[in-house]
Amino acid sequence: MTEALPPGATIGILGGGQLGRMLAVAAAELGLKCHIFCPDPDSPAFDVSAAQTIAAYDDRDALEAFVRSVDAVTYEFENVDLGAAEQIAALKPLRPGAKALEVSQDRLNEKQFLAGKDIPVGGFLTVDPFEPSARTLEFLFERLGETIVMKTRRFGYDGKGQAILKRDGGGLETLAGFAGQDVIFEAFVPFAREVSIMAVRGSDGEIAAYDVTENVHADHILATSTVPAGIQPETEQEARRIAARILHGLDYVGVLGIEFFVVGESGGEKLLVNEIAPRVHNSGHWTQDGCAVSQFENHIRAVADWPLGPTDRHSDIVMTNLIGQDAAEWRALAADPQARLHLYGKSEIRPGRKMGHVNRVTRRT
Ligand SMILES: Nc1ncnc2c1ncn2[C@@H]1O[C@H](COP(=O)(O)OP(=O)(O)O)[C@@H](O)[C@H]1O
Ligand SMILES: [Mg+2]
Repeated sequence: MTEALPPGATIGILGGGQLGRMLAVAAAELGLKCHIFCPDPDSPAFDVSAAQTIAAYDDRDALEAFVRSVDAVTYEFENVDLGAAEQIAALKPLRPGAKALEVSQDRLNEKQFLAGKDIPVGGFLTVDPFEPSARTLEFLFERLGETIVMKTRRFGYDGKGQAILKRDGGGLETLAGFAGQDVIFEAFVPFAREVSIMAVRGSDGEIAAYDVTENVHADHILATSTVPAGIQPETEQEARRIAARILHGLDYVGVLGIEFFVVGESGGEKLLVNEIAPRVHNSGHWTQDGCAVSQFENHIRAVADWPLGPTDRHSDIVMTNLIGQDAAEWRALAADPQARLHLYGKSEIRPGRKMGHVNRVTRRT
């Protein structure tokens, strides 16, 4: 265990999007300052932070100056370069650590890590390098079934870098479109629902987890997260057990998001881990209005080596993302007494852009 950061200390955050912004706001509530490092001068997190560095992520001099000016470093995205992570960790505590990045920024590493810990995942394989041929395709269908999800191993998000291969046509062309890239092939999981859990681990190994939330995507982007999720209590417990195993396995410090597929119904329900995110997560935004201490505050607490806050839920919540033009409705949303409105301060509305979210709160029954 290291020494806790005192109020007034500064946490450095790599990334200046909405997650960095909400982390900085949570830090400010605890009397901690944030210094945001982001290449985009128009970053939402800059509005609410004590210090800003505008520089490319591979600008090692700028990174070094940034790290020297802060007391600990965290990040809002998993694609932090491992060399940069090493450079940071040599100078200041990096939380979560490099191992979490290494595992989660490559879908193959991620699946192998999970499978190696006996955590249930769907079928997957790689063919490296793969030939976009009828033979390769046949091999894949034989091993993984009639429908396959092909994903780039790195840099995918919101469904980007993914394609479906089906036995009944078009597969070869789709496969050829990914030639030369490192990809993972996954068996299509016929899930009944998608759920996720946010869990947090302190540097002393203490663990807490929020309730499981049920997620619905539209156009591959998260649309709504609902708590409670419509799953069995045993399934909820299983999600917590899996979260604890992953957190300990990564010697993790901070909040971790885990996405699951739920297969089967009621008594026959089973969880498969889809992916993990070593950071606060969109499907955890409900915690801002459903819990005394949000995912953002608990992440900051863990990074600062403070005691974790309570994760129990006092309300039922439906979180709805405001994507693109949805945000133009801000006035009506602000007038709705059940809607807690969170806007990210992005100046320009663009299609598909996450502009904010709304937590609709009903008292817990
Ligand atoms: N193997 C799979 N079987 C069925 N659906 C999948 C599979 N992999 C991904 N999906 C669908 O695509 C969505 C996005 O995939 P995901 O792996 O979570 O990537 P990302 O969120 O990084 O874009 C998932 O939430 C799920 O709806
Ligand atoms: Mg996902």
